[in-house]
Amino acid sequence: MTSEVSYEGLPELEEEATGRLRAAGTLDDLAQLEGEFLGRSGRLADLQKGLGRLPADQRKDAGLALNAVRARLREVLDETGTILEATERSRRLELDRLDLTEVLPGRQQGRHHPVTQTRDRLEDTFIGMGYAVAEGPEVETDWHNFEALNIPPAHPARASHDTLYLDWGEPESTLVRTHTSPVQIRLMQSQPPPIYAVMPGRVYRKDTPDPRHIPGFSQIEGLVVDRGITFADLAGTIETFTHAYFGPGINSRLRPSYFPFTEPSAEFEITCPICTGTGCRTCSDTGWLELGGCGMVHPNVFSAVGIDSEEWSGFAFGFGIDRLLQVFHAIPDMRVLLDNDLRFLSQF
Ligand code: PHE
Repeated sequence: MTSEVSYEGLPELEEEATGRLRAAGTLDDLAQLEGEFLGRSGRLADLQKGLGRLPADQRKDAGLALNAVRARLREVLDETGTILEATERSRRLELDRLDLTEVLPGRQQGRHHPVTQTRDRLEDTFIGMGYAVAEGPEVETDWHNFEALNIPPAHPARASHDTLYLDWGEPESTLVRTHTSPVQIRLMQSQPPPIYAVMPGRVYRKDTPDPRHIPGFSQIEGLVVDRGITFADLAGTIETFTHAYFGPGINSRLRPSYFPFTEPSAEFEITCPICTGTGCRTCSDTGWLELGGCGMVHPNVFSAVGIDSEEWSGFAFGFGIDRLLQVFHAIPDMRVLLDNDLRFLSQF
């Protein structure tokens, strides 16, 4: 007679446990079964506690039988655990797999980064409104980035720009642009009015990365210079853009603000696209979200580029593309835009 049968219920327990351990589908299930059978208050432990009630001459054999079953179940547990670990590892690897094979016709061919997609859609919207698209260099002179925009040395507005200067030429004469506004200057220098253009591009600021800031981001700027352009044209343009880009339910409004290169200046806000104006966390319950800045081109800017402000007038506006993407998709942390993690990117 084998020692197992000497203890009532033990063979059935072993059979059940072996079957269920082998059938476990995940490491979590396995851990649960380990608790149920082999844990401190598991079913083997219950039997162990019952040993005391056996007649003294059977106790030893029953105890040995219990230990043997415990050892065999441990083995089954370890074997199944090894198999499940391997399966889960290959499933994880499969999820993280980078497909580096040649793109074949008919197969999905990847996609643009969400910032590029947003920029493309913005450009399309403005092209539809009759605007040209212009670009300028990311490395700029202090004159284009600041001085020509009515921000002379020591102007307090410089402090808010957290400029990254390059070690090139005179100290602090060369920088990576802190906004797209220097492209306005280049455009006005290179062609006579009328001008209707948008200028998208990357800009840089010495910001510590956090959920709402990344040190390299994208802006889009608009510039209109023509005869008889008024603040009403600016407000109407912002409203037309807002409806064209976000749809009819989203409106815009302007609030007084200050920029050295525009006078008067305004901040423009749009109906919060998350709650469509009823109030939520994203818009701090106001129903509105600030999108960017705008205003009428300052006469000093016109004189820096040799445009006669008696004959011509104009407006400019600008806003962050990454910020727009962030509010639109409720992205909690902007830094994911720089991570190149396919699990994030493939959602767009
Ligand atoms: N250049 C400004 C900025 O980066 C935005 C702006 C552009 C404001 C055009 C007014 C007009 O903060």
